Amino acid sequence: MSLRILVTGGAGFIGSALVRHLASESDAAILTLDKLTYAGSLTSLAPVDNHPRHRFVRADICDAPAVRATIAEFRPDVIAHLAAESHVDRSIDGPGAFIQTNLVGTYTMLQAALDHWRSLEGAAKERFRFHHISTDEVFGSLGPTGLFVETTAYDPRSPYSASKAGSDHLVRAWGHTYGLPVLITNCSNNYGPYHFPEKLIPLMIIKCLAGEKLPIYGKGDNVRDWLYVEDHVRALRAVFERGRPGETYNVGGCNEVTNIGVVERICDLLDAMAPRADGASYRAQMSFVADRPGHDKRYAIDATKIGRELGWRPLETFDSGLARTVRWYLDNRGWWEAILKQRYAGERLGVNA
Ligand code: NAD
Ligand code: TYD
Repeated sequence: MSLRILVTGGAGFIGSALVRHLASESDAAILTLDKLTYAGSLTSLAPVDNHPRHRFVRADICDAPAVRATIAEFRPDVIAHLAAESHVDRSIDGPGAFIQTNLVGTYTMLQAALDHWRSLEGAAKERFRFHHISTDEVFGSLGPTGLFVETTAYDPRSPYSASKAGSDHLVRAWGHTYGLPVLITNCSNNYGPYHFPEKLIPLMIIKCLAGEKLPIYGKGDNVRDWLYVEDHVRALRAVFERGRPGETYNVGGCNEVTNIGVVERICDLLDAMAPRADGASYRAQMSFVADRPGHDKRYAIDATKIGRELGWRPLETFDSGLARTVRWYLDNRGWWEAILKQRYAGERLGVNA
């Protein structure tokens, strides 16, 4: 039985990776619904242009009539809800869009999904899942030890993570109160191809190549738990195909690295793959800048549950995934140069000035 999968935010970083994966590795019918904000790129979906099982609809998830019409026409078995405002620094500068899209938009998706699910019968009703793709940042900030588990208390600290925490609560409430078959995944920091260059890893690669300083916030000793995006996408598929409705699954790569460690590895990879003309290391471009306001110290995920219940584990190590990522940015300059020219030129965001 081939599934009908509606992917919101499918022109973004993770959403487009999910769409590309489903197009090549499954027999699902796929509909991407995306507003194409600054973060969405149709060029990330170029590999599925004219694919017989994929369609694209431009719509805002806050636009209830558009969302309802799209769902009524497509009749999804799965809604993989990824559309969101996703960047912490932008949430510091302008939290309003995060409240609209992440909270009001998720509410709009839930109401439309509920009406659709109620209209289904028999096997179609049994099959339906609303899968909310969320972040480990809802759990707050860890000290030097410990890991986030599914039962860790929520303690969001940025406008971004607070809006995602709120959306998680809405999704659970729709499951608990109305019986909507919901799933939630809370994932650690992703990296890989088609990552918008405002985020640490692509920004550092691009600034290295431009000969610019590499802005490391604070002391660079904050820790993130990195997961290659295609590993995340396989986890999402395992969860919406085989996860238990009502459950939450943490997803992470077991790859804790300090920000300095990340930047040094990028410099070392580029020293080998695209050496500077003057023969110096890209590490010479590293610079320390004012810290992010409210900067969470450490995130780290315990992904035991999804491994035990669904057999998922990451295939990439941080070294193998980062090497693939740096290679991709070297080989796909056209994708990110267009973004730098039209939408975001690499300036510092979120300084709260
Ligand atoms: P992204 O910013 O790259 O993409 C977001 C997409 O959503 C874009 O295509 C954008 O156009 C679309 N969008 C934004 N507002 C919309 C609206 N109102 N209506 C319709 N479409 C809209 O984000 P991403 O990194 O791919 O993250 C996807 C999801 O995964 C988000 O929900 C994010 O919170 C979650 N997540 C991200 C990470 C990460 O490391 N990037 C980790 C864990 C969870
Ligand atoms: P980011 O990619 O924005 O992801 P998140 O804030 O959601 O974890 O940032 C990852 C880490 O890198 C975070 O600790 C902030 C830091 N950082 C820098 O040091 N310099 C930068 O220019 C950026 C964008 C992030």
